[in-house]
Amino acid sequence: MTSPSSKSYIKIRGGLKLKGEVEVSGAKNSILPLLFASLATQGEHHFQNVPQLRDLNLTLKMLSSLGLSYKQSKQELIIRNTKKPSGNPCAKSAKSFRASILCLGPLLAVGQTVKIPLPGGCEIGSRPIDLHIEGLKKMGAKIFIKNSYITAIAPKKTLKACKMKLKFPSVGATENLITACVLAQGISYLENTACEPEILDLINYLKKMGAKIEQIKKRQLKITGVKKLSPLKQAYSVIPDRIEAGTWLIAGACTRGEIAVKKCKPQHLKSLLEKLKLAGFCLKWSSSEIFLKAGKQHKSVDIKTGVYPAFPTDLQSQFIALMTSLKGASSLTETIFENRFRYVEQLNLLKAGITFKNPSQVLVKGPVFLKKNNITATDLRAGAGLVLAGLIAEGVSKVYGLHHIERGYENFVSKLKALGADIQLRSAKKKDRPSRFEFSGSN
Ligand code: EPZ
Repeated sequence: MTSPSSKSYIKIRGGLKLKGEVEVSGAKNSILPLLFASLATQGEHHFQNVPQLRDLNLTLKMLSSLGLSYKQSKQELIIRNTKKPSGNPCAKSAKSFRASILCLGPLLAVGQTVKIPLPGGCEIGSRPIDLHIEGLKKMGAKIFIKNSYITAIAPKKTLKACKMKLKFPSVGATENLITACVLAQGISYLENTACEPEILDLINYLKKMGAKIEQIKKRQLKITGVKKLSPLKQAYSVIPDRIEAGTWLIAGACTRGEIAVKKCKPQHLKSLLEKLKLAGFCLKWSSSEIFLKAGKQHKSVDIKTGVYPAFPTDLQSQFIALMTSLKGASSLTETIFENRFRYVEQLNLLKAGITFKNPSQVLVKGPVFLKKNNITATDLRAGAGLVLAGLIAEGVSKVYGLHHIERGYENFVSKLKALGADIQLRSAKKKDRPSRFEFSGSN
């Protein structure tokens, strides 16, 4: 992996069709909450299908600083939580990614007071944490925010159960509250919860450890607190990354290639598959594999992102790259993060001609013939979208800000190379770098 301050970039010669098979890694947004949940249960936690990512390393640093140890080999990871976590999580790591906030629920659940910096993360919106704080306070924790640090004080006894209706089905807040409620005293009712596959993976893991969680309705959970959870005897396999799978499908579509995406769960990608079909691509799938090839004609589509099962915000930049190659006017409306179009400026450096109808809706008039340029990733998924645009563009493009991509994609460049892309990892000379080169901030 490159360092966030490295001068590495991705060099792509566009115009080649992708062909072949690609295997999807374990889901970033599953393994991170699963690892934080291990803070609430003493013993050994064994995970399989674990992706090697920058955000995973940051999480492991946080767990180590709290007294846990780990052993990692290839896709396997063993976490040892032999005594109650103590101390504060590594502030430098916690500050650099959004998921660090997920340590609050499990630490408070085991009576640990904690001080952490406000979480960092992709600069895709204001990303408040009010729902996390409101829920944990209702459960008896005392929480203060001062000088960009959160201090969360656990009650003398255990957390108490809570009834809460989230004003928005936040993924992170749902995860934090679930891990807090499983060990709380009494029965909690959470309403308007998120129901992304990664949430269900966390629930599944906690239930296997003895948690009592019932999904009463699609967005309603009843959680009966138990005194203690016990780690599984066998390894737990992390679900495949639906965003990675979606990225490869869109990459295949962008290049009018023929690709098979293996080890994925097509049922997690229904909204994307529907839009790809509408745009004219041919798709076939089985329980764990999706095959995509170009159709006869490809036409524009309109997309609106939303909470699962709607179209994922984490796939919008990749789909916008595809829209530039579709015939007609496409639109994309973002409803989750107010600042997720920062990369459009970079895409327009490839002559994409994307315009804003309003701050949350862009219009793409295709087909446009993208031209090479040096561009910079503004966040993780934006980085993937820019690389996909580079695969279409005529000539050699360079995508900087590689560290963003490494936060969430395992072997991004080598997987694309194996599909036939003309793509390389390179170190930049100073004179080559674009002026708006950004090293700061990660998810
Ligand atoms: C998770 O972020 C993912 N991150 C994101 O993936 C993903 O884009 C997002 O969910 C939406 O699907 C992880 O799982 C680590 P949210 P999270 O809380 O939990 C508002 C990627 O590229 N909100 O569901 O931070 C918030 O402002 C990343 O892999 C509140 O108002 O997302 C936003 O508008 C980026 N108050 C909306 O909810 C709160 O207390 C969705 O945020 C919390 C959130």
